[in-house]
Amino acid sequence: MRTQVGIVGAGPAGLMLSHLLHLSGIESIIIEDRSREYCENRIRAGLMEHWVAQMLIETGVGERLKREAMVHDGIFLAFNNEAHKLDFAKLIDKHVYIYDQKEVVTDLIAHRLKQGGQIRFEVEGTSVHDFAGNGGKPTIRFKHQGKAQEIECDFIAGCDGFHGVSRPSLPVGSWQGYDRVYPFGWLGILSESPPPEKELIYAYHERGFALFSMRGAELSRLYLQVAPDEDIEQWSDDRVWDELTTRLQGVRPLKRGKVLQKGITPMRSYVTEPMQYGRLFLAGDSAHIVPPTGAKGMNLAMADVRVLARAFEAFFRKHDTAGLETYSATALRRVWKGQRFSWWMTQMLHRVHGGEYAGFDTKRQLAELDYVAGSEAASISLAENYAGLPID
Ligand code: PHB
Repeated sequence: MRTQVGIVGAGPAGLMLSHLLHLSGIESIIIEDRSREYCENRIRAGLMEHWVAQMLIETGVGERLKREAMVHDGIFLAFNNEAHKLDFAKLIDKHVYIYDQKEVVTDLIAHRLKQGGQIRFEVEGTSVHDFAGNGGKPTIRFKHQGKAQEIECDFIAGCDGFHGVSRPSLPVGSWQGYDRVYPFGWLGILSESPPPEKELIYAYHERGFALFSMRGAELSRLYLQVAPDEDIEQWSDDRVWDELTTRLQGVRPLKRGKVLQKGITPMRSYVTEPMQYGRLFLAGDSAHIVPPTGAKGMNLAMADVRVLARAFEAFFRKHDTAGLETYSATALRRVWKGQRFSWWMTQMLHRVHGGEYAGFDTKRQLAELDYVAGSEAASISLAENYAGLPID
């Protein structure tokens, strides 16, 4: 097979890239090791920045989003038994959208296939080759339905997530990883119950952080700060509900319901620099991951491919390589701001139990929350980062 851009991974980054390239008349083929059903049903992050929703709508894949997404004016910060609303609509005239990543993936897969786009699901043994210099032809090798296959392309886009093959294929010494692991994890549930508020509640509590999110009027997505090595077997549904209720005590009543799904999310920050080598470009989680407290994961992936699609367009239309040369630097400026914000939200809201400075840090966190909720300048700073920094 031959194509202009070979894309590894059918997540939001790979699919959106393929979609944007198609709109610019550029061909791509996506390969993905999971099944279509798996990609469409994996529950992931649910919060979308204002401009991402706009981009989906403007590029013709926002019909269902317009009908089904929940549009939020802001978020609540809860501490000292009180919930404080940060009203983004009032502060910065922006909204955020609740629309699960799996819905974005479902919409993009359907749209790409309808337009004749090529996606190969359930491939095995993917590897990327000959992307180093200008001599060779970048090649993606894999097995599909038991048969060895090869895609020859002008460029490879590695959109295959944190555990994918693309990042480890960058030559040793050509890149550096910046890592930060946090001393806690999130235990998340999806439940058949009404969320306690119309919008999200980020709750600071002496027993640990809790987040009250949602997927619908009768569908809650709720998270608890737990130990990073927490054993999920120790958490019966009743124990999860008791702990969520405790951490929301005095703020809102919490209705219980059937738990549909339960899992633990690791908390880690990671950045690859640069996000490119030769004609292999990384985008999304293959290059960087954030702790979920800032709700940035999918949004940063979308920002990467927006920059990358424009760079490819300039190359194929005008042989202009400037955008490709600056892709990594341009993407990383936004990535690091997303990292900074995600780290900041995480350190403000999570309890560190024990240690020399635990007492001081608790008081300092409460002062920070009080400051953010009480100062218009600080509220705006949170709002503009949360709802999405401007795109150029
Ligand atoms: C979610 O709804 O899954 C969600 C929302 C906001 C976050 C993290 C997760 O910060």
